[in-house]
Amino acid sequence: MSCTATETQIQEREDFYDSPYLAEHYDLFSARFWEPERLDVPIYLEAFKQARKAHDPTSTHPFIVLDVGTGSGRVLSGLVLGACQDAQVDLADDDIEFVGLDVSPHMLSRAAETRPIPRGICTSWVLGSALDLRAIPLLKGGDAVKVDFLVFAAGGIAHLVDAGQTEAFLREVAAVLQPGSGRAFVSFMNAVMDSADEESIDPVKEQQELPSGKFPGIVYRTINASSEIVGKTHIDRRDILVIKKETDGSERVLERNTISTRLASWSPEEFAGMVQATGLEIVDTIKERVETYYALKLRG
Ligand SMILES: C[S@@+](CC[C@H](N)C(=O)[O-])C[C@H]1O[C@@H](n2cnc3c(N)ncnc32)[C@H](O)[C@@H]1O
Repeated sequence: MSCTATETQIQEREDFYDSPYLAEHYDLFSARFWEPERLDVPIYLEAFKQARKAHDPTSTHPFIVLDVGTGSGRVLSGLVLGACQDAQVDLADDDIEFVGLDVSPHMLSRAAETRPIPRGICTSWVLGSALDLRAIPLLKGGDAVKVDFLVFAAGGIAHLVDAGQTEAFLREVAAVLQPGSGRAFVSFMNAVMDSADEESIDPVKEQQELPSGKFPGIVYRTINASSEIVGKTHIDRRDILVIKKETDGSERVLERNTISTRLASWSPEEFAGMVQATGLEIVDTIKERVETYYALKLRG
C-alpha cells in the first residue's frame, strides 16, 4: 500500500473536533467507551423528565434546556426523542426550547446533519463557549430568562483545563441557572478524574481503523496513542490519519491530525470545593462504570 499525497496537500490539526472528518471520528471513537451499553442519556432523561413535570405551567418564560459542549447533539437529541416517547412529558408546547452549544462549528454541523429533531420542537445549535453562557442569545432576554436543565456530558467539563476555567464555567452556570428548580448535570470520566496512573482514556490501545459511515472509501487510522499526567492535567496524544482507500488498493492521506488533548484531572474533593465556592451545591452524585455524574443546583 502506498500513500500518494504530498505533505503540502495534507491538512494538519491539533484539536480533536476540528474538521468534518474529526467530527465523525469523534462519534465512532466515543461509541466504544460505553460498550456494551451507554448509561448517560437514560440518567439525564430521567432527571429532565422530573424537572419538566415540576415546571410551573404559569411561568411566562420558556423552559430552557442547555446542552453545553453538545458535540454532535447526542445527549440533546436523546432527551428530545426519549421525552417524545413519554406521554406525560409535553414537548410540543411553545414553552420549551433546547439549545446545543459548542465551540466547534464542525461538531455543530454534524449535530444539525445527523440528529433529526421532530417538527415543532424548538431547537438551536449555537456556536459559543461554556465560559460565556451569558452570551447565548436566548439568555439575553433579561434576568428572568434562566436555564431549567443544563448538561455538560461525556466528561466535556475536563476540557476546561487552563487555570481558573472550571471555576469560571461554574460561575457561568450559577449566573444562568433557574434558582430553586434549575438543575445542572456535569460528568467526569472516571479514568480522568483524579487519575493516579497514566492509562490512556481510550480503552482500545492498539493501532486501529474506524471506517467512515459518511464519506465513501474513508477510514480513520489512529497511531501513536499515549497518555501522561503532568500536575493536574491528563494529556492524551494520538495521531489520527484520515485516509482515502482507492479502488486500486492505494491509500491517500487527506488529514494528518496530531492530537494532544489536555484534560483537567480534579479529585472529587477538589471539584466539590469549586462547586461550593461558586454558589452552587451538589445535590446528587452517581458513579457508574465509566463516568461520575454530579447534579448541581444554586445554593440557598
Ligand atoms: C467529550 S465531547 C462531548 C460531546 C457530546 N456532549 C457527547 O456527549 O457526545 C466534548 C465537546 O465539548 C466541546 N467543548 C470543548 N470545550 C468547550 C467550551 N469551552 N465550550 C463549549 N464546548 C466546548 C467540544 O468541542 C466537544 O464537542
